[in-house]
Amino acid sequence: MVLNKLKRAGIIGIGSHVPEKVLTNFEIEKIVDTSDEWIVSRTGIKKRRIADENTATSDLSTMAAKKAMECAGVQPEEIDLIIVATVTPDMAFPATACIVQKNIGATKAAAFDLEAGCSGFIYAMAVGKNFIETGMYKRVLVIGAETISKILDWKDRNTCVLFGDGAGAVVLGEVSPEEGILSSYLGADGSGGESLNLPAGGSRIPLTVENIHDRMHYLKMSGSEVFKFAVRAMGDAAKKAVELANLPVEDIDYIVPHQANIRIIEASAKRLKMPMEKVYVNLHEYGNMSAASIPVALDEAYKKEKIKKGDKVILVGFGAGLTWGSSLIKWSI
Ligand code: ACO
Repeated sequence: MVLNKLKRAGIIGIGSHVPEKVLTNFEIEKIVDTSDEWIVSRTGIKKRRIADENTATSDLSTMAAKKAMECAGVQPEEIDLIIVATVTPDMAFPATACIVQKNIGATKAAAFDLEAGCSGFIYAMAVGKNFIETGMYKRVLVIGAETISKILDWKDRNTCVLFGDGAGAVVLGEVSPEEGILSSYLGADGSGGESLNLPAGGSRIPLTVENIHDRMHYLKMSGSEVFKFAVRAMGDAAKKAVELANLPVEDIDYIVPHQANIRIIEASAKRLKMPMEKVYVNLHEYGNMSAASIPVALDEAYKKEKIKKGDKVILVGFGAGLTWGSSLIKWSI
């Protein structure tokens, strides 16, 4: 079989959307035994956005998707595939991506969800890129979206202070061979899965009145274990993205990391010998938005002109699974 030369995939449009409601650390002080000082000094987070009771992940996704399509100048019927990366789908099934497909009128698109924790957007972009590269699809809508506030235990100060809701989306399409997604790297270690999970509500522990009473339907996390893993995984994954693209680290213009904790971001940047001026940080505004963190940060960095056409940008993240991943992009819009 003769393989055609692979096409080059890149981001041709980007957009994001966060809920209106802001929840500050000072407001959280009234809900659990914590303080603004503790949260800021341990994490860097000052506030986060919270979806109201009528807003689901597909709603935030739809808003972000519309903005990304507008940025790309692409009509809904031109979208061939929608991938939604999320740990907070609207429901177990149908896929949130199918709900978005209906909402935006992308009648010709295939649609599925992908779950890789906070690494979800990096995973979904790697999957979408392959469809473009092989020529199977021309336009792939990749969305990272969460309403993580809905799976938080608002009695658990170890977790509820860390997260927020939001959505970011990109349209992937063919770009010139010198630009676009230069490398993608994905990893997982299932043996660390219990350090960050949501135990009940699946086939292992179906929901019962008893386990709801025991609060098993909320996110659980061993913060210190995830912290140690995250520093190593982010630094190593970022290096891998650079190696796979055959470029020296000095060539990198900008890093957009997963926004979980400023200490994790600073330690990873140090591992990579990157000054913090080259690292985009918005977690003080939004907290950790899981799969939405990276695309929302990327959209902001682009809109603020921190990233310009031709810049080499690393996206890097880690999350539940445990998973990690990175991508090196030569910005093409
Ligand atoms: N307010 C006040 N005290 C708190 C709070 C809070 N909100 N949360 C925990 N504490 C207390 C604990 O009860 C504990 O007290 P104890 O020692 O008396 O038992 C103590 O603070 C823990 O303190 P530290 O160990 O110093 O906390 P640490 O510096 O490890 O910070 C944190 C905790 C912020 C959770 C950190 O470990 C972390 O960021 N871990 C990574 C988390 C992460 O990135 N998760 C996202 C993963 S991505 C995904 O897929 C969702």
